[in-house]
Amino acid sequence: MSDRSPWFYLTTPIYYVNDIPHIGHAYTTVAADVLARTHRLLGEPVFFLTGTDEHGQKVWQSAERHNLPPQVYVDRILPRFRELWEKLGISNDDFVRTTQPRHVSGVRDALARLQEKGDIYEGAYEGWYCLPDERFWTDKDVEEGLCPECRRPVERISETNYFFRMSGYQDWLVSHYESHPEAVRPESRYNEVMGFLRKPLGDLCISRPKSRVPWGIPLPFAPDYVTYVWFDALLNYITVPRSTGATPDDGLARLWPGTHIVGKDILTTHAVYWPILLRALELPPPRMIFAHGWWTVDGQKMSKSRGNVVDPVGLVETFGADATRYFLLREGQFGQDVDFSRDALINRINRDLANDLGNLLSRVAAMAVKFFPEGGIPRPAGGGRREVESESARLLPEVVSRTVSLEFHRALATLWEFVGFLNRTVDLKAPWVLARDPEKAAELSEVLYDLLEGLRLVAVHLTPYLPATADRILEILDCPGTGALSLPVHGTFGQADAYSPRPGAPLFPRRDASGALLSDEPERAPRKAQKERASSSDPSAPASLPSGGQDGSSGSSPAGQEKPSPAPAAPDAPQITYDDFSKLRLATGIIREAVAVPKSKKLLKLAVDIGEPAPRTVVAGIAGSYPPESLVGKTVVVVTNLAPATLMGVTSQGMLLAATVPDGVSLLTPDREAPPGAGIR
Ligand code: MSP
Repeated sequence: MSDRSPWFYLTTPIYYVNDIPHIGHAYTTVAADVLARTHRLLGEPVFFLTGTDEHGQKVWQSAERHNLPPQVYVDRILPRFRELWEKLGISNDDFVRTTQPRHVSGVRDALARLQEKGDIYEGAYEGWYCLPDERFWTDKDVEEGLCPECRRPVERISETNYFFRMSGYQDWLVSHYESHPEAVRPESRYNEVMGFLRKPLGDLCISRPKSRVPWGIPLPFAPDYVTYVWFDALLNYITVPRSTGATPDDGLARLWPGTHIVGKDILTTHAVYWPILLRALELPPPRMIFAHGWWTVDGQKMSKSRGNVVDPVGLVETFGADATRYFLLREGQFGQDVDFSRDALINRINRDLANDLGNLLSRVAAMAVKFFPEGGIPRPAGGGRREVESESARLLPEVVSRTVSLEFHRALATLWEFVGFLNRTVDLKAPWVLARDPEKAAELSEVLYDLLEGLRLVAVHLTPYLPATADRILEILDCPGTGALSLPVHGTFGQADAYSPRPGAPLFPRRDASGALLSDEPERAPRKAQKERASSSDPSAPASLPSGGQDGSSGSSPAGQEKPSPAPAAPDAPQITYDDFSKLRLATGIIREAVAVPKSKKLLKLAVDIGEPAPRTVVAGIAGSYPPESLVGKTVVVVTNLAPATLMGVTSQGMLLAATVPDGVSLLTPDREAPPGAGIR
């Protein structure tokens, strides 16, 4: 069999149905889903398999505890897994249950072949047994009566069983891994496996007497024994491909070898037992096994006894599938342990999803509709490479390559770098300023096309991670949905001919600290702020930010106003959350030019260098405190993301911070030299 099938065949572990699914199961499956969707988007044929592990002592004992026959018991738990995958938008191509006839017959065939080859023998066993892991251990493995893997107590067992001659394949496996270091990922897990393989391998006990464990696949050559659950379970990775072809061999030849994503807890079974079993069956080893880390909860191991098991169904019902998927893969490095906290999840939703992505889409779509109510914002003809285009070419291929190498959090961070770039482009190009000058109509159209096209590319690259959100963005942009997408065709800048977006509801409503929706956000904003928003030239300015003192009466004491209020900070000012605060962008700026605004006693027009290609024009009501010439070269603090406002005919693109002092205002300035554009936090 060739080991280079064109198919990308990807699996998750099959999950025990002795209990309902938890966030750890969701983690592996979402990660696999993102990978499968990415390969599909790249145009590859993909076969993505997940399923349930239904045999063995653990499942049987759970069924006993519930007073149910094991098959009835597993049939009742099964829908909990299926429903979760449906809720999370998992796109598996097949779902295996180890009680399915196709699997049972595949396992029995494999056992019969190994027995014929002489790879299985009968022997007496005496040793230690870990019930939760369903694994045997020797005297030298066990210290203080505890399982070396899970640290739970082991029991002494003595019985006749059937064994698989694993030891004979050890040298082959070591040399395979020496020449294929990419076969176990990340590198730390590869080293762990090589360390394990330095000790001699024992043979593997592959049976359980029916008298002790009645729930499993009977051995074809010894009907009083059932197959060891791990031996049974691992074979699912080939019993399913066997069932997809005209003959078992056809199906296998089409899909095998596969790529496995597993948790670090089941690395040895996958990276040692499994390739050896395949070798004995004369099949190539897996292409790659990736072992990820575990989720802890508020720094603690997740366990039923601690009562801290995170229920993924609850998360999806409260926060939605896409927010849950985003959090699972953005929060930690795939391969390392990650900690779950609700606060962290809410922060990610508010900051990354609602603010960075959701606001960007709302702002751009609202401006497009306001400035081009007829739609049809065309792709600009010719012209040099635009910034959005070159930035997309720089960042987006990296999103794909990081995903394909399972660096999900870095892929998302890179995609958000692009989202941040688009947000800065909105601020910098200020389409609402361009809209006031009929001579700038072409430039306005180009800027909006670039932003909309940038958003389309965000949606395309988001498809594997947040499929429903990607669909909604494309719907708002009035582009074809995600079903029809392919990265080679749709993944580069300039694919859309024209844009006629139609704004929709916010992508991700913000949450308060308890996780509840802040759906009344606009109503709760002070009436004055709403009025300002209504009169703002930027149709998309967020309600919570003052418009820059259009009429000089916004109530704060910035120096960009005609009438700075001499009142001290109001003691009854409404509290803001950290998220409110984090919307603010402050930076240092150096005043390069300062002149009086004609006919105004208080206003100065300043050119302030904040590290951007051209200085910003800021109109500040500080003439009473500073003669213009005294300001040139001074370093000041600028609010850089305030919606522009026009004061006495001059458009101000920022605001300076100043303290109110008895005889006027005193500009805030850093107490050490700072370059223009230094961020302030
Ligand atoms: N049935 C076996 C696997 C057989 S595969 C041929 C099994 N099932 S399990 O239900 O216990 O699921 C194990 C998998 O769930 C882990 O490998 C991992 O993918 C996931 N997780 C279980 N708990 C986890 C965490 N706390 N954190 C992250 N993932 C973990 O083992």
